[in-house]
Amino acid sequence: DTNINPDIQSIANRIKNGEATRIVVLTGAGISTGAGIPDFRSPITGLYDRLAPLGLPYPEAIFHINYFSHTPEPFYAIARARHPRNLKPTISHAFLALLAKKGLLHFLFTQNIDGLEQDAGVPSDKVLWAHGNWKSQHCYKCSAHYPDHLMKKAIMSGDVPYCLQSGCDGAVKPDVVFFGQSLPAEFEEKEKEVPDADLMFVLGTSLKVAPCSRLPGLVKGGTPRVLINMEKAGDIGNRGGDVCILGTCDEGVRKLADALGWRDELEGLWAD
Ligand code: OAD
Repeated sequence: DTNINPDIQSIANRIKNGEATRIVVLTGAGISTGAGIPDFRSPITGLYDRLAPLGLPYPEAIFHINYFSHTPEPFYAIARARHPRNLKPTISHAFLALLAKKGLLHFLFTQNIDGLEQDAGVPSDKVLWAHGNWKSQHCYKCSAHYPDHLMKKAIMSGDVPYCLQSGCDGAVKPDVVFFGQSLPAEFEEKEKEVPDADLMFVLGTSLKVAPCSRLPGLVKGGTPRVLINMEKAGDIGNRGGDVCILGTCDEGVRKLADALGWRDELEGLWAD
């Protein structure tokens, strides 16, 4: 196809020639907007532009552990909308599953907590949920575990769940990583493997939040970094070898799949 952009074709050729077999991927909220989950920082549609009615001191406070410790209500007011709920993964998620199926995915760091990577078929041992998940929950104060069925009720009703331990009045928090909290211990371990990458894909993230934002900087000089995003992010594009595919993630992965000759396989995997 003569319409394929030469930068995209050169990345595809690297993969086809076997020069990229340890691909590291970083994803963010922009990979899931196509599935119906608004991102955080896009003007108007992003979550942070829609929080005015909740009277927060600043938008990110809704996910800050210090703010949550005294005012957990805003978090529970939006929790239901961000809780995993039988959404269909996007074709971008399917593209990651296809990379894994072909044995090319070294590792995926996701900042998302929607679980759509796994739903799309990316093996869980290839994924680090850097910002945690909704599968369990604990009292923010005494760390006591809180039962799943009560948590589900709280999320559906929007009422703040409180610790069941006698004498504790802490709010219960899902084990998603809030600002002011540490990432899973595995993060540091996996971060050390980023320089081993022979190609990096960065999809759907503004690269505004550390420490994930520093992962593209750990890729060795000369190793291509490919940004697939609506807008430029971080310093991707500044190094020789970088490629920016601007537009939606879904358009970007379809272009790549065309250049790779994988388009039918990708559409098939996504449809399953
Ligand atoms: P952001 O909302 O900061 O950035 C999403 C990026 O995806 C932006 O650059 C958008 O332009 C882009 N985007 C949106 N829809 C897209 C689409 N369909 N195709 C391509 N690009 C699209 O989200 P993250 O970078 O994931 O953490 O945010 C990082 C962290 O900040 C989140 O994990 C969350 C948040 O606060 C915590 O709460 C701890």
